[in-house]
Amino acid sequence: MPPKTKTPSDVDAARSAAILGRPLTLPCGVTLPNRLVKAAMSELLADTRNRATAAHQTLYRAWAKDGPGLMLTGNVQIDRQHMEHAGNVVIQGKQNADQLTALRAWSTAAKRKARKFGCNSHTPAARLKGGSTTRLRRHPRCR
Ligand SMILES: Cc1cc2nc3c(=O)[nH]c(=O)nc-3n(C[C@H](O)[C@H](O)[C@H](O)COP(=O)(O)O)c2cc1C
Repeated sequence: MPPKTKTPSDVDAARSAAILGRPLTLPCGVTLPNRLVKAAMSELLADTRNRATAAHQTLYRAWAKDGPGLMLTGNVQIDRQHMEHAGNVVIQGKQNADQLTALRAWSTAAKRKARKFGCNSHTPAARLKGGSTTRLRRHPRCR
C-alpha cells in the first residue's frame, strides 16, 4: 500500500496539537505547562452545609487524568445569601478544620495530574455584572 500523504487538515491538526502542548504564562505570572483548560462548570456536589465532598475529589481526579494545564472549579460562592445554585461550595469567612480538610482534599485530587487548580469564586457583585472571578494566586484556600 502506498504511504499515506498528509492532507492539509492533518497538518493543521498537528500544528494545533503542538500549540496546545506549549506552556503559557498568564498575566498574573503563573505558567501553565500546556493550554488545555477544564472550564468552570457548577458541580452542585456540595453537602447540605456547602462543603466540598468526596464526589468533588472523584470528579476532579477523573478530569485531571489527562493532565490539563489548568482546571477551573465551578462556582464557589463567598456569600451564602447569594448562591448561584444550591449544592455549590461556599467559602465564607474563616473556615473550620472540616471545611479546610475538604477543600484541601478537593485541590489535591485535582492537582494529581493537572498542574494548576483555579478557584472560580463567585461574588454577588460579579453576578450582577454577569460574570465571575477566578483567582489563581489570591485564593489561598483553593491553591
Ligand atoms: C453546565 C455548565 C455549567 C457552568 N458553570 C459555570 C460556573 O460554575 N462558572 C462559570 O464561570 N462558568 C460556568 N459555565 C460556563 C462555562 O465555563 C463556559 O461555557 C465555558 O468556559 C465555555 O466558554 P464559551 O461559552 O466561551 O465557549 C458553565 C457552563 C455549563 C455548560
